[in-house]
Parts: sequence; structure tokens; C-alpha cells
Amino acid sequence: MAKRGGSEFVCQNCGMVYPRWQGKCDACGEWNSIIEEKVGGEGFSNLPSKRKGQIIDFVPLSGSQEKLDRLTTTIKELDRVCGGGLVAGSVILVGGDPGIGKSTLLLQTCAKVAELPGNHECYYISGEEAIDQVRIRAKRLGLEKAPVKLASATDIKDIIATLEKSNAAVVIIDSIQTMYLEEVESTPGSVAQVRACSYELIKLAKKKGFTLFLVGHVTKQGSIAGPRVLEHMVDTVLYFEGERGHHFRILRAVKNRYGATDEIGVFEMQDQGLVEVENPSALFLAERQGNISGSCVFAGIEGSRPVLVEIQALVSPTGYASPKRAVVGWDSNRLAMVLAVLEARCGMNLSSQDVYLNIAGGLRITEPAADLAVAMAIISSLTNKPLPHDMVIFGEIGLSGEVRAVSQPSLRMKEARKLGFASVVMPPRHSKDNGKSYDLNVYEIGNVQRLINMFN
Ligand code: TYD
Ligand code: MG
Repeated sequence: MAKRGGSEFVCQNCGMVYPRWQGKCDACGEWNSIIEEKVGGEGFSNLPSKRKGQIIDFVPLSGSQEKLDRLTTTIKELDRVCGGGLVAGSVILVGGDPGIGKSTLLLQTCAKVAELPGNHECYYISGEEAIDQVRIRAKRLGLEKAPVKLASATDIKDIIATLEKSNAAVVIIDSIQTMYLEEVESTPGSVAQVRACSYELIKLAKKKGFTLFLVGHVTKQGSIAGPRVLEHMVDTVLYFEGERGHHFRILRAVKNRYGATDEIGVFEMQDQGLVEVENPSALFLAERQGNISGSCVFAGIEGSRPVLVEIQALVSPTGYASPKRAVVGWDSNRLAMVLAVLEARCGMNLSSQDVYLNIAGGLRITEPAADLAVAMAIISSLTNKPLPHDMVIFGEIGLSGEVRAVSQPSLRMKEARKLGFASVVMPPRHSKDNGKSYDLNVYEIGNVQRLINMFN
């Protein structure tokens, strides 16, 4: 550990600290990311102190809890991702690519909360844009009348001094990488600055009980820029994501001390800003074409909500020495596994075929439950036989070719029924109580081989 007043060398990518400079970070493997930083206000344990430690009280696990004070923003998709509204004194980090709509989302949130009855004070502090720019956006969104307190500032000391005196309910800092604290001798956006500024803001949010939103930039690698440490300091981490060229955006909780993770909120970016999408399945299936081989509908679960998406595969004879495999929206390792199972267990010959896989609409799926749907799309493309238009499918595939049960089958089936699907292909159900069919024709299959037989 460097001495106070000395300096240390910190990787700007992962926050790893080194006693001397080196070209490559051993922790994250990044080159040229290590820069010298002065050791500043942190490192309290090095300070000489007269105060002795005090005895802390222990309590039993049972007991009454204070009910969380949650503020609903009226933007339902955001409330759900946050676990049912904004918790007073909580800190939410919102990350995402430039231009994805973070500032738009937070300006809309801020304006909505400010317009709620109860006079909640909402502060929007922009370090990136001039006041005029934010005003133009507010006008475009039709929010210029909302009683939001807007400022353009980057000095954390000024911001803290102002907020100390306020009665804030919601504070938005756009973005944390533009903020600086005089005492820290490194440039805004460096790990030391981001950490010190966040520390001060978070301390104040806890003390005054306002909800703090920090906007964070995302690096090329896709994590929130600068420090992973920031993710540990905050209560909730949300990623705002979307594919370029698609107009819908997904807000995803990756950490939440006050709610479930993996919850998603779906928005559509329109001319007047972000509009909530209440029925994402209908949106994702909107452009589906009938009677085309290589396409099937996967009944997935995102967070607590069922989402139906179209999975498309294209299998064509390769012109290369080694066949191409390309995936958009799914894990390429998982595709390799499904292909290997189809080859080894079902005798399909895919080694002379290029395989392209696409999750239509630009959604990213992480569930293994999509295995069976992927296999189905590949077989359909290879055999050039389209699937029934009104069929959904889900299930995980094991290495021996067995089809494994996945979570919440009934939720998936209910959603399929709701959207007018008539049949479902799924893993065998073992327990009696989930034997309901929800008016669907249910095909339970225990092995991938059965899937191939369905095409004959
Ligand atoms: P912005 O919120 O500035 O993104 P971020 O803060 O994440 O960098 O969003 C900018 C993009 O959104 C820009 O490309 C224009 C688009 N946009 C709309 O399509 N409609 C709108 O109403 C607004 C305000 C922005
Ligand atoms: Mg912005």
C-alpha cells in the first residue's frame, strides 16, 4: 500500500493497484491502462487516530423491519426493474453505450417524479451537456413545464454544498465520469476521481435520504467505465442496452439490493422520447413472417416476466475450409454445444455447413432454456421444413442429448396462450401439479432425437 501523499499505479479498467508502473494489467489483461494516481482522501486506516473502537450490539435475526419507503415514478418499466419503485436513500448506477438514451430516460424520470403530487424536489445535474442542450431535449419530450431543477456543474464540492441545503427527493448526476473533486490529483473520469466523487455523493444520499442516479459510461469491453469498484459502492446497477438500428431499449438490473436481478424493462425510443412497452412479446414477434424454414418462437423468461421471441437459423453449405458459425443475441459457446450434440447424438452432419443464428429484434438471451428452440431452428433450416406458425418451444439440452426441465413452464405456456399460440414443445413434466396444458397442444419430448423425428 502506498504511503499517504505518495502515489500508486491504478489500472483504469479494473481498479487494480500496483506499487510501480507496468505496461499490462495482470488482473484484467488490459494494455496501457495503468496510470499514476496520488493517494488522496481515502485510506483512513493509515491515519493516526485517538478514538478507540466501541462495542457493537448484536441482535437476533428475527424482528420487525422498517418498511422500505418507495416512490413510484409512474414509469412502470423503471419501477419494476428497481424492485417496485425508488427507495429513499438508495443509489442507482445506470450504464450504457453513448447515445442509447440514458439522459433521455433519466430526464423523463426526473420530470415525472417532479410532477407527482407531494412536491418532490428533483435535481438534474449535467456535466456533459450545456443547459440549452438539456432544455432542447426537454422541449422535444414535452416536459419543459415540469418543475425540475436543472444545473450544469462538475465540481462535486459545489454540488454537495447545494444539495446539503436542499430537500431533494431525486438527484441525477449525468455523468459521474465528468465530475471532479479538487483534492484528488487526477483527471475527471479516472478511477480515483470517480471513486472519490461517488463516495461523497453516496454519503450525502444516505444522510439526506434522496434517491441518487449516477450515469456511468461503458467501456469498449462493455462494463461500466473506470472502476468495477463503483458497482460495489452502489445499491443497484442498471444497464440500458439496445441494438443500433432497432428502436427498442432494454433496461436490465444486474445488481439490486432492493429487488430481483435479471429483471428487464422494455422501452421504445420514439420521436417524443422513451415509451414503455407493456407487452414485449407482441413487439418482438411483430415482424415475424409465416411459413419460412429456420424460424421458431422461443418462450423465454426475462426476470419475472415471460417474453416470446423469434429465433432464426440459417444453415447453408460452406464455401470455406472451416465452416462459419455466427451468432447474434446468444452465446456462441452454447451454439457450439448444441451443434455438437446434434452431430454426436443425432447423427446430423453439420461440419460442412455454415450456421448463422439470430435472435430477431435485437434481444440478448442468456437462458439455457433456449437450447431446444435453437436446435429446432437449425433442424428446420437444414431440412428446409417450416414449423407450424402457432407453435412455441423451450427446454434445455444436456450433453447426452436429453431435454431438461427449465424454470416456470406454466408462466411460459400462459404467455403463449395469451398471444394466440396453439401448441408447445417442451421438456417432460414430472410432478403432477404442473400437468395443466392451458388449452395448448403439449408435445413433451425427453430427447433431441424426438425433435428430429417431428420433422419426418
Ligand atoms: P441520449 O439520452 O442523449 O443518450 P445517452 O445519454 O445515453 O448518451 O439519447 C440520444 C439519442 O436518442 C439520440 O441519438 C437521439 C435519440 N432520441 C430520440 O430518438 N428521441 C427523443 O425523443 C430523444 C430525446 C432522443
Ligand atoms: Mg447523455
